[in-house]
Amino acid sequence: MKCRSCREPAVIDIRRHNAGFCRDCFLRHCREQVKRAVEDWSMLVPGDRVLVAVSGGKDSLALWDVLLDLGVDADGLYLGLGIGEYSDDSGAMARAYAATRRATLIEVDIPSEYGFDIPGAAAATRRVPCSACGLSKRHLFNQAALDGGYDVVATGHNLDDEAAVLFGNVLRWNTDYLGRQLPVLPAAQGFARKVKPLIRLGERETAAYCVLTGIDYIVEECPNAVGNKHLGYKAALNDIEAQSPGSKAAFYFGFLDRASSKFAEETAAGRDRLVACEGCGAPTTNAGLCAFCALVAKVAR
Ligand code: AMP
Ligand code: FES
Ligand code: ZN
Repeated sequence: MKCRSCREPAVIDIRRHNAGFCRDCFLRHCREQVKRAVEDWSMLVPGDRVLVAVSGGKDSLALWDVLLDLGVDADGLYLGLGIGEYSDDSGAMARAYAATRRATLIEVDIPSEYGFDIPGAAAATRRVPCSACGLSKRHLFNQAALDGGYDVVATGHNLDDEAAVLFGNVLRWNTDYLGRQLPVLPAAQGFARKVKPLIRLGERETAAYCVLTGIDYIVEECPNAVGNKHLGYKAALNDIEAQSPGSKAAFYFGFLDRASSKFAEETAAGRDRLVACEGCGAPTTNAGLCAFCALVAKVAR
């Protein structure tokens, strides 16, 4: 197969684009896809200070790399979740990348700063680890952005992630979540803007990006994710995609173009009920403590 752009031998083929690319044209393609997502959704404005949430995985490291190459003022944020060796290794990857690019990496270590780890929080709440983990991430990403004076939090959610989340929300008709599943959530009182600039790239592409640029990333999935629903949805969508390339993108972008606005009203209604958390001041729909402060209190008991 030849590169679509320059006709040199291709190193990767992307079936949904019906195209192959050589190394340099593929890296350019990745940067263009990020640029296009950022422009189409007005994710960034000139002068924005961006905080990239980096897990040490391929997606967030590729995102940070592309944003730096595009000249965006982007620092990294790594959250230590206290998930044993997995956290040790992923933190090391994030630090190593930051060092090679001489980029700033902010670290928040949940065990030392908040006195719990994700497995402990799961045991205390009797919920799956990913539930305590997701709520801690959302809270602490926002907190770190506000504390550091950043305008935007960027995460490495890619096309596969977003299609799988959409699939799960549609299966259960979680209409409230459907209204919020957008690649950009504007800033609001107490909330930094949230953006997902990788929505036009699949995970095979972000992995290839890292391999071709020599970025070392943690290959293992989080041990708590093994066997969870999200990975099941991804596998189901991969089967469909193999039969019919382009289905995943059609599903997700069709939703954004033609369906998501239909759920916006329900989501906006929740936003009117926000009050300040009595513990940390963050906006919350709960009376008293926000979900994160309630979690910290529960684990302490
Ligand atoms: P996940 O929730 O693991 O699917 O990750 C989604 C995105 O959240 C990643 O692409 C990162 O941008 C961010 N993220 C996940 N884990 C961490 C972490 N430990 N520290 C900072 N950002 C993270
Ligand atoms: Fe959060 Fe696995 S990364 S539970
Ligand atoms: Zn709080």
